[in-house]
Amino acid sequence: MSILVTGGAGYIGSHTCVELLEAGRDIVVLDNFSNSKPEVLDRIRAITSRDFKFYEADLLDREAVERVFSENEIEAVIHFAGLKSVSESVDIPLRYYHNNITGTLILCDTMSKFGCKKMVFSSSATVYGMDNVPPCREDMPTSAINPYGRTKLMIEEILRDLCVADKEWTAILLRYFNPIGAHKSGLIGEEPNGIPNNLLPYVAMVATGRLEHLNVYGDDYDTPDGTGIRDYIHVVDLAKGHLCALDYAAGHTGAKAVNLGTGRGYSVLEVVKAFEKASGRKVPYVVAPRRQGDVAASFADPSEAKRVFGWEAQYGIDEMCEDLWRFAKDNLK
Ligand code: NAD
Ligand code: WQD
Repeated sequence: MSILVTGGAGYIGSHTCVELLEAGRDIVVLDNFSNSKPEVLDRIRAITSRDFKFYEADLLDREAVERVFSENEIEAVIHFAGLKSVSESVDIPLRYYHNNITGTLILCDTMSKFGCKKMVFSSSATVYGMDNVPPCREDMPTSAINPYGRTKLMIEEILRDLCVADKEWTAILLRYFNPIGAHKSGLIGEEPNGIPNNLLPYVAMVATGRLEHLNVYGDDYDTPDGTGIRDYIHVVDLAKGHLCALDYAAGHTGAKAVNLGTGRGYSVLEVVKAFEKASGRKVPYVVAPRRQGDVAASFADPSEAKRVFGWEAQYGIDEMCEDLWRFAKDNLK
């Protein structure tokens, strides 16, 4: 029996494939490389010294998805495949809705058809919207302010409906906070296309000299140094959370949302400082206007993950920056 990893060539997916293989699990990976490269698969093989089956396929291609299920015995699916840029989702909303939602509908439909009814889904802290006061708890009201966020919210609701209608279904909705860092090997990490939107890839590219300076989006928030606070989580900690979610899913049915975060927030300026220390490079910055849609602070209450999975994050901000730098100095220059 295998775990199907959709989007397994991507940033979080590739790190999760490594953890799954190292834990002795068999995996099948599906990706269309819309935001990743084939080389990543060889790097996963190199890190783990294990092989796995790969399908270059689009989730929107129902026949291709059915082929994966007819050619393999899939016991559960970890569903990463999706488009993830907030700004792009505002510009091309239909592509985001179609890719993320239709892709998930086809996947769920095919899973049901083949009697595979366990899914771990990549949701996001973005579903906590603008109005909740952190720490964010799973029982807080959800909302979204951009098409990307709405796809996550809608998919959460779709999976909840599915679990109500079919009591054999399990859907674990993992709400990631801000994943950063890279694998200790320096072989896999996040490689954004073009100029990154997210803080850490941007900071890393400033440190390598590829970008001139960081724009700090607002220094007048109601936070200790005026810059935005986020709950950054090491991607390897996040990946390990998926293995816990799979174990939990094996023994439970129904839909369940669980935060994956550290519970500790860092400001933009604290992150810049930590990255300068880890890299030994200067990260010049200028203060720019606030970015539309940003909240002052967002961090998790991670206690539910500890209670139900026995999971908690191990790595702190210094290690996240050191591991990112090891990857970035060769791959993001
Ligand atoms: P990523 O872009 O690196 O990985 C997603 C992978 O899915 C890519 O390899 C891409 O090629 C593939 N993909 C996209 N659409 C596909 C389709 N229709 N068919 C087949 N493959 C497809 O992104 P990531 O950072 O690894 O994120 C993984 C998941 O986690 C996404 O669903 C994302 O929305 C979610 N998430 C990410 C973050 C973050 O900050 N990185 C935070 C919260 C949630
Ligand atoms: C972090 C902080 C910025 C860039 C986004 C998505 C969210 C999730 C993770 C997928 C904020 C500041 C950033 C820069 C800056 N993705 N910043 N200069 O906005 O918390 O979350 O990625 O689900 O849905 O919205 O992450 O890394 O973009 O920003 O000052 O060049 O860094 O204002 O305070 P965010 P981020």
